[in-house]
Amino acid sequence: MAWKRLCALGDVAENALRKFEVDGVPVVAALVEGEVMAYPPLCPHMAEPLEISGICDGGTLTCTKHLWQWDMKSGGELGLAEKPLLLYPVKREGDAVLIDIEQELVYDYD
Ligand code: FES
Repeated sequence: MAWKRLCALGDVAENALRKFEVDGVPVVAALVEGEVMAYPPLCPHMAEPLEISGICDGGTLTCTKHLWQWDMKSGGELGLAEKPLLLYPVKREGDAVLIDIEQELVYDYD
């Protein structure tokens, strides 16, 4: 694993995806029930930017473009979604949030 600093804990909020870039790799992150979760920034369906089209509510992420939904903790599909949400490994060290971006996560859109 190659841990890199993603942000400070105070930089992420509940129910709000925020975009970051770590070593040139774009990532969106949010607090989900106090736990920092990080994902690739584009919707698994048709690559809409989730920091714009994504709405988080009660641990569920909805892409407003076509209403695909996911469990934000597991990445599992809910409702109409046909692909899971990919999750980056994340851990905390004090106030710092670290992410493993050794392998950039990208969806297959074919
Ligand atoms: S682009 Fe996100 S649900 Fe279709």
